[in-house]
Amino acid sequence: MRPPLVPVNSLVRHVAALRVELAAALADVVDSGQYVLGPGVAAFESAFAAYCGVAHCVGVGNGSDALELALKSVGVVPGDRVAVPANAAMYATTATLACGAEPVFVDVGDDATLDPAQLARACDSDGPLRAVVATHLYGRLARIDAIAETCRAHGAALVEDCAQAHGARSADGRRAGAFGDAAAFSFYPTKNLGALGDAGAVVTRDAGIAARLRALRQYGWEQKYVNTLQGGRNSRLDELQARVLSIKLPLLDAWNRRRRDIANRYSQCIANPRIAVPAVAGDEYVAHLYVVHSESRDALRAHLDAAGIASDVHYPLPDHQQPCFAGRHAGRSLPVTERQARTALTLPCFPELTDDEAERVTAACNRF
Ligand SMILES: Cc1ncc(COP(=O)(O)O)c(C=O)c1O
Repeated sequence: MRPPLVPVNSLVRHVAALRVELAAALADVVDSGQYVLGPGVAAFESAFAAYCGVAHCVGVGNGSDALELALKSVGVVPGDRVAVPANAAMYATTATLACGAEPVFVDVGDDATLDPAQLARACDSDGPLRAVVATHLYGRLARIDAIAETCRAHGAALVEDCAQAHGARSADGRRAGAFGDAAAFSFYPTKNLGALGDAGAVVTRDAGIAARLRALRQYGWEQKYVNTLQGGRNSRLDELQARVLSIKLPLLDAWNRRRRDIANRYSQCIANPRIAVPAVAGDEYVAHLYVVHSESRDALRAHLDAAGIASDVHYPLPDHQQPCFAGRHAGRSLPVTERQARTALTLPCFPELTDDEAERVTAACNRF
């Protein structure tokens, strides 16, 4: 008989222990008569700003809106150029295009985050950038100090994409979201901190940027029915999701530790010359996704599938090669991004994965 499938993630397991508390909070919201931008949203915004170590958090509808509004809040306007990585499923690129700006694709390093040297080269050679999006991909902090330094030197704003990196910390204790001019978070259900539907936020140290975000998320209103900003949207966080997020936030660090333990165990125990594993990591990695690389990626995937182990590919097609561009960026060469798109494979890694399941994954990789 086939053993039970080891999933890449399991939201059913994730919420099981919180069922009673979540149901009570949801009932509370139903009875309150306040459903959008109410006291639950304000409470979550201050708790999450404090968690990230910044002064302001502005709740919005999802992570994509968070990125778009973050770019607008730091001054990106139509015609501007914005540097983005091309290995993260079009998220930063889509936000850039939604601002009417032009994405400038920059290659990543072996850690799958923006290569600071390539960014510096793009700044020097391709004309002025209004902003740079640094994506902390897979839950690993980008080399953010070097990126911030390049942004400062070239007068570009820095927007962090923290959708996969809630709680990731640098050696000096600063968390993802505390480095840039603004930082976007997604609370999509599969994220390290996830809602029970779509939700997002932008955090910032800057009161002016926060004020612009509060206007942008609600039509451009400075006050009700007074539109002072163009580029506004309806992208508000609702009370139900905010209450869910407030219940889960105190558990985030423990979940992240468990994710990292599983990831580090894989990195220590998977020993197969056909599979390259990431280095054992500390707090800078919150193991949103555990991604290995193999020149025989598709064969490895089939082998794992036969052993009852699910896997996924994050991400198979780089942004500059997406069909929506109809070949417009065909001449752009991003060797690391393109190679990793061919070799990346995501293994099961989530807080509720059991030790036995993790061992099955390791053993199957070692048999490949
Ligand atoms: C790195 C990254 N950025 C942005 C997003 C967009 O977030 P959302 O799906 O909430 O719009 C995601 C999530 O899927 C993501 O992983």
